[in-house]
Amino acid sequence: MPSTVLILGAAGHIGQALASAFADAGSQVRAQSRKPLPNSLAARPQVRTVRCEALDAAALGQAATGADVVVHALNPPYTEWDRLALPLADAAIAAARGSGALLMLPGNVYNFGSDLPPLLKPSTPEVGNTPKARIRIEVEKRMAATQGLRSVVLRAGDFFGAASPGTWFDLALATKLGAGRFVYPGPTDVAHAWAYLPDLAQAFVRVAEKRAELGGHHRLHFGGHTATGDELRQAFETAVGRPLRTGTLPWGLMRLMSPLVPIWRELLAMHYLWERPHRLDDSALAALIGRVPTTPLQQAVNAALADAGALKNAAHTVTA
Ligand SMILES: NC(=O)c1ccc[n+]([C@@H]2O[C@H](COP(=O)([O-])OP(=O)(O)OC[C@H]3O[C@@H](n4cnc5c(N)ncnc54)[C@H](OP(=O)(O)O)[C@@H]3O)[C@@H](O)[C@H]2O)c1
Repeated sequence: MPSTVLILGAAGHIGQALASAFADAGSQVRAQSRKPLPNSLAARPQVRTVRCEALDAAALGQAATGADVVVHALNPPYTEWDRLALPLADAAIAAARGSGALLMLPGNVYNFGSDLPPLLKPSTPEVGNTPKARIRIEVEKRMAATQGLRSVVLRAGDFFGAASPGTWFDLALATKLGAGRFVYPGPTDVAHAWAYLPDLAQAFVRVAEKRAELGGHHRLHFGGHTATGDELRQAFETAVGRPLRTGTLPWGLMRLMSPLVPIWRELLAMHYLWERPHRLDDSALAALIGRVPTTPLQQAVNAALADAGALKNAAHTVTA
């Protein structure tokens, strides 16, 4: 169904995947960002760039006018959530409400707190026992409580794929492939939720197509891939065509240095996600859109590693 979609944070990980998926689906995409979009997106006829600050209410209001859907894909730096996450959410809420558009948010699993249960349903109680859990709970509470706003949270695990540098996948897992190592942040037998971005972006398009059925506020979960570190390592080994040794991150050193390195302090606070098995139940999403887009894990890993240029590095070392 052709539509007009404003993507806030279109230069980001999911922002780029969404801009591409909505354009592929025939929508007119308004792509908000401060930094330039990659040429491959900016040059597409369906994509109009909106270069403005996300907190510029007038510019956002203008960009949202006539939009059917606004996606809040902004994400302040991990160390600045306290200061910026709520103002950015308020800006997205105001833009969507002012234009009558459906507001969509890529949710995460932080809302369930540090003792999260293994199966996460949209009805699973939220527990604000970490600072980031409290922020995310508040963001969604504001969405749900805004009179006259229609909104959807589509919650997912850690992003990977779609050439998006800066995710766990390429900041940890794939960093040492050239040296024959698979770097995993936690115990390798614990299930972890992942979202292959091209699939998740497709799910957003499909939910947006159902917007006429969506009044009020909705919480949906995207299942994606639930995999242990061992299962992922096997997929990496198949992709690179050789066995890999498993290494981990220097958590001890990071803990020691965390008073001096704010981002390490923030990452340590979320370390529990590598120790608690969890997966997202997407039956409510499937009931709304039918089959949930899911590329087989091996195919997704192959594509993600190729997009990140990691296969080239691994192959280089093999022949060196
Ligand atoms: N990453 C994951 O694994 C993951 C998993 C599940 C859910 N999510 C959720 O998905 C959403 C998007 O995450 P992402 O990883 O795609 O985001 P991201 O790439 O880290 O950032 C998205 C965009 O936010 C904008 N931004 C950053 N700081 C800003 C600031 N101070 N003021 C205004 N704009 C700012 C930047 O765009 P410009 O610099 O161009 O303005 C950036 O490209 C977040 O709500 C996140 O929690 C993420």
